[in-house]
Amino acid sequence: MKIKSICCIGAGYVGGPTMAVIAQKCPHIKVTVVDVNASRVASWNAKDLTQLPVFEPGLDEVVKEARGRNLFFSTAIEQAIDQADMIFISVNTPTKTYGKGKGMAADLKYIELCARQIAKVAKQDKIVVEKSTLPVRTAEAIKNILNNTGNGVQFQILSNPEFLAEGTAVQDLLNPDRVLIGGDTTKEGQGAIQALVDIYAHWVPQDRILTTNVWSSELSKLTANAFLAQRVSSINAMSAICEQSGADVNEVAKAIGMDSRIGSKFLKTSVGFGGSCFQKDILNLVYIAKSYGLNEVADYWEQVILINEHQKNRFSDKIVSTLYNTVSGKKITFLGWAFKKDTNDSRESAAIKVADNLLNELAHLTVYDPKVTEERIYGDLEYLNSRSEEENRELLTVGKDPYEACKDAHAIAVLTEWDEFTTYDWEQIYESMNKPAFVFDGRGILDTESLEAIGFTCYTIGKGSK
Ligand code: UDX
Ligand code: UDX
Ligand code: ADP
Repeated sequence: MKIKSICCIGAGYVGGPTMAVIAQKCPHIKVTVVDVNASRVASWNAKDLTQLPVFEPGLDEVVKEARGRNLFFSTAIEQAIDQADMIFISVNTPTKTYGKGKGMAADLKYIELCARQIAKVAKQDKIVVEKSTLPVRTAEAIKNILNNTGNGVQFQILSNPEFLAEGTAVQDLLNPDRVLIGGDTTKEGQGAIQALVDIYAHWVPQDRILTTNVWSSELSKLTANAFLAQRVSSINAMSAICEQSGADVNEVAKAIGMDSRIGSKFLKTSVGFGGSCFQKDILNLVYIAKSYGLNEVADYWEQVILINEHQKNRFSDKIVSTLYNTVSGKKITFLGWAFKKDTNDSRESAAIKVADNLLNELAHLTVYDPKVTEERIYGDLEYLNSRSEEENRELLTVGKDPYEACKDAHAIAVLTEWDEFTTYDWEQIYESMNKPAFVFDGRGILDTESLEAIGFTCYTIGKGSK
């Protein structure tokens, strides 16, 4: 089957960039990205490309080339489903906040809504592709809904998990380590797989396009994220030992990373991993393991999350204990709120928990982040429900200028590794601060020696005192 028209349901961090790249690389395919959120769709259609709802380096260029040619953003969901040969489901699958599996299982209500809508609208055979990260055997549920509520048309369900990382989404999409496509072993299933392989083959070498059965594909996505998160928790666990023992975690990471069996990537210690995927996917894995009665397996993976929580608490505790055991009424400036650099996304960012802990101690926080909006920062705190909206706004302000944000602060805490933080005039910042002036580097990006020469007292995560 040759695909002429694609619809993607969900214009978020995954759906938007992925479809933009498919449209750029396959000008003969019409790609329509639909979303229930009309303001998000309007932002994707904004003339001013700095207003796109997702900030990703290089994304504006891709959108500029394809939008209006064969890439469209729309709220006309049913029309787009009806016209498409292939439908990607790229809606959010947050952790459940209610009922059975609360706080652990993935909430599939948006996926189910999509499946029902597709079943209702479709009049011709279609290929449905799961793009969102999903628990194993979700494809079966989607298939059931499609086959039992539809108009008798044939559906093939594929799993095609997305491995892009935010901040490097466009590069990851253009040059992926691999593309994974899972489908039925039947002739029809293999035909559907081939149709999707043909799309990616426009720019991805064939030997990097991997095909498996549906369940392997679904589970591989959860496994990849669990292994990546585990590496971060492992190095973060070592960071605590380094601080106590006088070792330097960067030296340790380098030394172990040179072992080709371990590898050098993803060994950067931090104040804790964030992002929409790691925690959610591990909780999901834990839930799946428990549901199979594999309690020891569940406990093993749960530790990855527990260490991550510990790392965030350890950082805020360090700030409080260093500032003479009280931060009440003291101004502490956060440099960074995003869960990593080069993104405006703050979902599950370590900054949120660190801020919440310090606000419990009645600190006065000022946050400066180059990309995350004020609305989002307050939204992140309000979601925790730790105190009233008014209190959050009283205790935390959002700065527009980093120098202004640092003025009169007792301490600066680096929560995100934005490059620009290393280029600041730190002497000027020092002059404007309360003394003694402290810097807590939760990302290990600042040059401690030159800061100490200026007069700062520095703490760097994972660095023991000599
Ligand atoms: C290990 C370290 O590899 C080596 O660097 C260190 O100096 C000493 O300890 P060794 O114990 O000799 O070396 O063998 P290794 O190949 O690491 O295997 C250890 C165990 O892990 C074996 O029982 C092996 O069967 C098992 N293993 C290894 C697996 O089960 N799966 C794997 O993928 C790798
Ligand atoms: C992740 C996976 O990398 C990606 O393949 C998957 O599709 C989605 O989830 P993402 O969450 O966008 O991507 O970013 P990633 O670069 O993996 O970083 C996740 C978190 O781990 C960030 O908070 C980052 O700061 C932290 N991290 C990462 C570290 O603390 N140390 C590291 O060495 C790497
Ligand atoms: P991700 O990081 O997985 O891309 P996002 O939250 O950024 O997640 O994006 C998911 C998008 O899916 C949101 O813009 C949301 O409005 C949209 N969405 C959720 N459910 C539906 C639905 N039933 N129909 C259309 N769009 C939906």
